[in-house]
Amino acid sequence: MSSFKVHPIRSLNAEITVSGDKSISHRSIIFGALAEGPTRIRNFLPSHDCLATMHAFQALGVEIEINDDGSVYIEGSGGDLNPCGEAIDCGNSGTTMRLMSGLLSGYPFISRLVGDESLHRRPMKRVADPLAKMGAKIKCEGENGRPPLEIQGKYPLKAVKYTTKVPSAQIKSAMLLAALRAKGKSVIAEKERSRDHTERMLRLFGASSERDGLSVSILGQQRLHGCDLTVPGDFSSAAFWMVAAAASKQAKLILHNVGMNPTRTGLLNVLSRMGAQFQESVDGDSWEPVGKITILGGSALRGTVIEGDEIPNVIDEIPILAVAAALADGTTTIRGAAELRVKESDRLATVAKMLASFGVTVEEFDDGMTITGGADIAGTTVDSHGDHRIAMAGAIMGLFAAGTTTIEDTECIKTSYPTFEQDLKQVFAENPTDRSALASGITNLIKGKKDPNKSNKRK
Ligand code: S3P
Repeated sequence: MSSFKVHPIRSLNAEITVSGDKSISHRSIIFGALAEGPTRIRNFLPSHDCLATMHAFQALGVEIEINDDGSVYIEGSGGDLNPCGEAIDCGNSGTTMRLMSGLLSGYPFISRLVGDESLHRRPMKRVADPLAKMGAKIKCEGENGRPPLEIQGKYPLKAVKYTTKVPSAQIKSAMLLAALRAKGKSVIAEKERSRDHTERMLRLFGASSERDGLSVSILGQQRLHGCDLTVPGDFSSAAFWMVAAAASKQAKLILHNVGMNPTRTGLLNVLSRMGAQFQESVDGDSWEPVGKITILGGSALRGTVIEGDEIPNVIDEIPILAVAAALADGTTTIRGAAELRVKESDRLATVAKMLASFGVTVEEFDDGMTITGGADIAGTTVDSHGDHRIAMAGAIMGLFAAGTTTIEDTECIKTSYPTFEQDLKQVFAENPTDRSALASGITNLIKGKKDPNKSNKRK
């Protein structure tokens, strides 16, 4: 089982360009594969999850190649997919399984979707039920609506008006992909807004959808046209470094080429409430905004409340926000986040366990937790439970813990941020190790003083 060690550092000065966005990389393969004509994707994230989506389309007969420079070339199928004789392996990727379910519902053949042990624990009725209303027959072969999935698709599907029961971009996107294979206009509504990468990508590939508040309407049977695109850096990967810098006594961290889509950047609002100092600028806003974030350390973070419609916007950042909370003064409460129980691990349980192993007091609820910040924290051994975001959040926590922290079961990091360990090594190479903390077991890098002259604009 792979593992690595982390030790405390005294300051964090670095410039990092994080790798491509996972959500956008998945969608760029999907849209490129369905479009007419060629598509070239630059800064594609070659993570295990995104490669699962790429392999799925290759299995359905689409020609896709990764070039030596890392760019991806797709010979678009114009929507002409061949049935796949074997089961499509979605690996650990919920995005692959749910979006492929939506898409394959509109093809009149049988497809079978399988995944790893963690994916087979995740709920699929949330996509199977609404897709059945459009005319697909989806059998969830696992207990209580779990995978494997057998999909008997149909073309054309029936257009629907549907409100998702949980705010989820995966459900919304599965429905939008199915709606493209339906006759007439479908309307997909949500109770809280989830990330809108699919809607933006529809536009980029020449199709239209209309947003009205929390609803998106889309006409079926539109044509998609291949294009050249560059995937922005992943805000969710950048988030680990943002918290590391914000919680450090001395830090200047510059993050380049970060996706700044407002349906993803809720972590900056939370960090702002916690008293972190940062500047953000958007360099380009064509189909997806991209920018630069500079985070300065030296401010004592303070606890906050994270709940309500902010949750979908920070859904993947809760593990690292929990680390920020542990390093802050006062308590932080997270509520309305029961959805975290059905991610790659039960993230409310695995986050609470990870923090407790460092000596942090955590009270866990059905839908969240309260974290008491400010305790002295000691190096420990973190079991990732096969969950990439737990492994990376544990590693950042280790930068602030006395002694050595060992992160175990780290292979999973490759599902979203394959170069994380490389970026961590760069941080270690460029910043002094806190030898005294290693030797004496005393460290607390966060007790800086807030500079009242520094402020940022977020709420
Ligand atoms: C994703 C949506 C989110 C997120 C996941 C990626 C996407 O899941 O947690 O990592 O690419 O659409 P939900 O839509 O289920 O919340």
